[in-house]
Amino acid sequence: MESNIKNLAVFVSGTGTNFQAIQEAIEKDEINARIVLLISSKPGVKALDTAREHHIDSFVMDEKEFASSGEYVNALSRKLSDYKTDYILLAGYLKMIPVRIIGDYRGRIINIHPALLPKFGGKGMYGLNVHKAVLEAGEEYTGVTIHIVDEHYDHGPIIAQEKLKVRKGETPEELQKRVLKIEHQLYPRVVKELCRGKIRPPRNKAV
Ligand code: GRF
Repeated sequence: MESNIKNLAVFVSGTGTNFQAIQEAIEKDEINARIVLLISSKPGVKALDTAREHHIDSFVMDEKEFASSGEYVNALSRKLSDYKTDYILLAGYLKMIPVRIIGDYRGRIINIHPALLPKFGGKGMYGLNVHKAVLEAGEEYTGVTIHIVDEHYDHGPIIAQEKLKVRKGETPEELQKRVLKIEHQLYPRVVKELCRGKIRPPRNKAV
């Protein structure tokens, strides 16, 4: 493995199949990085088991468990710096990233979204809600978007998108499954490019 290996922190709130797909690509030497840290906003989720199986340090960090939001941000910031984090990958993370962390890691936090942003993004647009909304709107296409995280939900510069044709009569669950399959291929590919320094988002562009 080449030198200049990047340290990744992955943030999750649930199952973590994207986290797993990225870890598996790393284990196959397809990405010059290691996941040093998993942060979950919820206890008891499957992603935490996956982290354990792969010997990845993990922490549950729920803002509500801290005395103040300042303490929460300090604790999160300390963790990221203790693990010498280069990039933060959001993979099904349902909380807002604190503004200070976005500033400290400007252009180095990315998110995956199961639709073609800017459509079907924003508050409440997660999980099956996204696919239900796509079907209800009668969209011909949906897909996957990977973007740089800024201070707004599902909003920063888009760095990759892949389209998928919606099938007649398919259920939200079926659509979710097909979209997720694309996510598991696209996210590792984008992370690979990111770690090679091939994705250079506009810096200091707080919107
Ligand atoms: C994915 O659909 C992702 O696009 C969205 O949340 C879901 C997470 O799935 N942000 P998983 O936890 O990676 O299985």
